[in-house]
Amino acid sequence: MCGIVGYVGPQSALDVVVAGLKRLEYRGYDSAGVAVLADGGLAAAKKAGKLVNLEKELVDRPLPAGTTGLGHTRWATHGAPTDVNAHPHLDNAGRVAVVHNGIIENFALLRAELAERGHVLASDTDTEVVAHLLAEEFAVTADLAEAMRLVCRRLDGAFTLVAVHADEPDVVVGARRNSPLVVGVGEGEAFLASDVAAFIAHTRSAIELGQDQVVELRRDGVTVTGFDGRPADVRSYHVDWDASAAEKGGYDYFMLKEIAEQPKAVADTLLGRIDASGSLRLDELRISAAELREVDKIVVVACGTAFHAGMIAKYAIEHWTRIPCEVELASEFRYRDPILDPRTLVIAISQSGETMDTLMALRHAREQGSKVLAICNTNGSTIPRESDAVLYTHAGPEVAVASTKAFLTQLVACYLVALYLGQVRGTKWGDEIHVVIRDLSQISRAVERVLGTMEPVRKLARSLADKNTVLFLGRHVGYPVALEGALKLKELAYMHAEGFAAGELKHGPIALIEEDLPVVVVAPSPRARSVLHDKIVSNIQEIRARGARTIVIAEEGDEAVAPYADHLIRIPATPTLLQPLVATVPLQVFACELATARGNEVDQPRNLAKSVTVE
Ligand code: G6P
Repeated sequence: MCGIVGYVGPQSALDVVVAGLKRLEYRGYDSAGVAVLADGGLAAAKKAGKLVNLEKELVDRPLPAGTTGLGHTRWATHGAPTDVNAHPHLDNAGRVAVVHNGIIENFALLRAELAERGHVLASDTDTEVVAHLLAEEFAVTADLAEAMRLVCRRLDGAFTLVAVHADEPDVVVGARRNSPLVVGVGEGEAFLASDVAAFIAHTRSAIELGQDQVVELRRDGVTVTGFDGRPADVRSYHVDWDASAAEKGGYDYFMLKEIAEQPKAVADTLLGRIDASGSLRLDELRISAAELREVDKIVVVACGTAFHAGMIAKYAIEHWTRIPCEVELASEFRYRDPILDPRTLVIAISQSGETMDTLMALRHAREQGSKVLAICNTNGSTIPRESDAVLYTHAGPEVAVASTKAFLTQLVACYLVALYLGQVRGTKWGDEIHVVIRDLSQISRAVERVLGTMEPVRKLARSLADKNTVLFLGRHVGYPVALEGALKLKELAYMHAEGFAAGELKHGPIALIEEDLPVVVVAPSPRARSVLHDKIVSNIQEIRARGARTIVIAEEGDEAVAPYADHLIRIPATPTLLQPLVATVPLQVFACELATARGNEVDQPRNLAKSVTVE
């Protein structure tokens, strides 16, 4: 939600910043802007719409060359996505430029105070007050970092800020509360960004910024303090992927590349977590076996696709550990006064590690004394930093807004946690665990096989491009898969799509069925409880009898569903609990192809952002 880049060094700041913004556009794409310090002054450009509009503007009206600068790509909160509301925002003298991610909750009060002191504010944003406040403080301190600390102490809400001042031409200052900000340290240059992807082409050496910290970037070094001015401890780390991982690599869309990367992502997430004897090794979890044995309830909190991963995890957790497990939308969690205590283990699932709803849920859980385990894809992000333990998924950078490979790896991580709990608590025998691990190890190849058979799915999707509605049905773990299939279609194809538990059909949704309505059904394995499979066969017949066009995802060898399927999508046979890892893949391909056929932007669907850092 909003991407930010800052740079100081020997290179053209504009080139570095614009290239960085391109990598952050997934975070928001309502408008974009840049500012550079040059010739003793400050020059800025900003434009509504995607980054490409700003790039055109920079060709038509080039900015002077400078080596210190900043940039922003916006997902609008306060104020419409217009040129005026685009960041950066400047003070009245045009000496300070600031970009912001988050929401400054007390901006109206600050704005009124500034107006009283004679400031003229041009935009509808909450951000602009910061430029004016920085100008006032700088006039007293002549030190941008100190001015930033003073201003931050007056702000309420969530904010990442990056600022430059024409009177300190070799300095970029950043501040962080709740929203993400990472520092990149190069040879004689330094970077600030919402995500390492923005500077990975220049350096893989990064520093995590903590909560309520201010960083001052100069060519020869980086200084981090708290908002109170005291020196802060920081953690440096090496980014374990390179620039090519954040490129499209010959694919038309990041989403297609990320779908194709799933076999590797799944295999990488298992790597190093199983020892030679076939037992699980999760030493990285900082929660002791003794503490895990005390757990008497598990609560999973997450949003969007990660929430669906949590819904599937519940089936495995309860089956393998016999610990009651609840799954809750992070945005609802803390408002209903959930019952939590030190024996509750909260699992927070998040690709980005920055989703504000999930962050607030985990903070609430920790305040109640519960332990929080994060399942996360982004090293050094806020959610794992604030959790008691973390299990990283190794999906690599996920750029497309619609989550694909992260989802599969979240499932793998959840299965590992559930098995590990079974192992330390003794609710599963060692040999039972080995069997599941062996099955999990084979999933990567099964996903590969699914990907090799997707042409009929693409063809089917293209043939449905003029439909208005698609329904998705599933039972057991197929139910969250149906929800995920519907979510993908809404996000990407902008179609009305709904997922239902197939058993609920008769309690209402069946009224939606009409002639030729496409209904995707995720069929459980016939080798699962046969009653489960029999029931889905009945459900398929019920909807077909009412005119639906049935699209059935069924395991190879499942002949019972074949007579009732207008379209049959085959997936390899897997154990029941692992089926979502293969059954989701055709639904991703289906949504991606339908979006393309309808002329939609696959990687950047309208109104969405990948990392949602506001509540
Ligand atoms: C946004 C994205 C979704 C994602 C959700 C949770 O809504 O568009 O794709 O599933 O956030 O994100 P997280 O980073 O916490 O997994």
